[in-house]
Amino acid sequence: MKAVEIADGIYWVGVIDWNIRDFHGYSTYQGTTYNAFLIMDDKITLIDTVKKEFAEELIAKISQIVDPKKIEYVISNHTEMDHSGSLPRLMHKIGEDKPLYCSKMGHKNLSRHFSQKWNYHPVETGDKLNIGKRTLTFLETRMIHWPDSMFTYLNEDKILFSSDGFGQHYASMERFDDEVGDEIMPHALKYFANILMLYSSHILKLMDKVMQMALPFDMICPDHGIIWRKDPSKIISSYLDWCHQNPKRKALVVYDTMWHSTETMAEAIAEGLAGEGVDVKPLSLRHCHRSDIMTEVMDAGAVIIGSPTLNNGLFPTVADFLTYMKGLRPKGKIGAAFGSYGWSGESVKLINKELEAMRFQVIDPGVRIQYVPDEKGFEACRELARKIARALPPA
Ligand code: FEO
Repeated sequence: MKAVEIADGIYWVGVIDWNIRDFHGYSTYQGTTYNAFLIMDDKITLIDTVKKEFAEELIAKISQIVDPKKIEYVISNHTEMDHSGSLPRLMHKIGEDKPLYCSKMGHKNLSRHFSQKWNYHPVETGDKLNIGKRTLTFLETRMIHWPDSMFTYLNEDKILFSSDGFGQHYASMERFDDEVGDEIMPHALKYFANILMLYSSHILKLMDKVMQMALPFDMICPDHGIIWRKDPSKIISSYLDWCHQNPKRKALVVYDTMWHSTETMAEAIAEGLAGEGVDVKPLSLRHCHRSDIMTEVMDAGAVIIGSPTLNNGLFPTVADFLTYMKGLRPKGKIGAAFGSYGWSGESVKLINKELEAMRFQVIDPGVRIQYVPDEKGFEACRELARKIARALPPA
């Protein structure tokens, strides 16, 4: 795909990674993009690069517009390798002495990633860089997504280059939200749930800071997925909503099973919840990817986890999911556990321990059933469901 002029003299020179299906544990069924932007001004400026494997494609795209050696400034908004991996190749091509602008943490982190004595220019929030007819303003955005992250705002064109913020793992020939339509929102939500959920409080503070600055946005250009130009305020208001993770009358029953006993318990719990008017989703970890489940966790009021006991411990898929969810720190959830066992039966206790570590409100000791549930066992599952339903917010 060719470079795309996204505004007068400003070009998308990123790449499309059509075939990536796993992004550090996140299922990217629809691929992704690594966006980079070239600003043609008196001082030609490149914002961000792409994953290492695509370095030559980045350089070829820049070459469609200008000889890469004419780039005067490089801005690195974020050190993670999907955006910095091509820096060594690029800097070698354009000249190792060209000024490289990044945050102070970016300076430290880039130095630790690449043993290069580049001409670093660390910047702070509010610092400006004049590139001719235009001026860039830098805004540190710690933990969105790493300590080094920052946004770059192009004052005259009212464009925010937002690095990982407002991104989506979404590969397509289209570059803009209005070309894709509402189909993009579930991808933006999944990205938030799996990359940024744990930084919700940082994001809220940042949003507050940005609102106080009263910066107008005609366009928001993230480093992944499509560019927001039709209504940039829509993704901002969605982020404000997502950061609060307001629980709905919704429950997830997340489980795996060995000989179908824990599965039938999950079905009884789900039926019990549905009978109480709860929007419930039974999700088998053998069939659903952890990152898709985390997207569902965002607005769920309750997350109920089921695991058989295997070798005195949790079933591996359940342990995997609990580890993943714990890292993303969902807020304000009700939790409960269930599971079948043969002789020792530790799984429910182990799940409760993890839920408590996540500060879930564990409202019941959980349901443990030896070998195969009978009618009494199913009734215990339905009773657990009723208890959870009473604790959930009304519809
Ligand atoms: Fe897209 Fe945190 O890197």
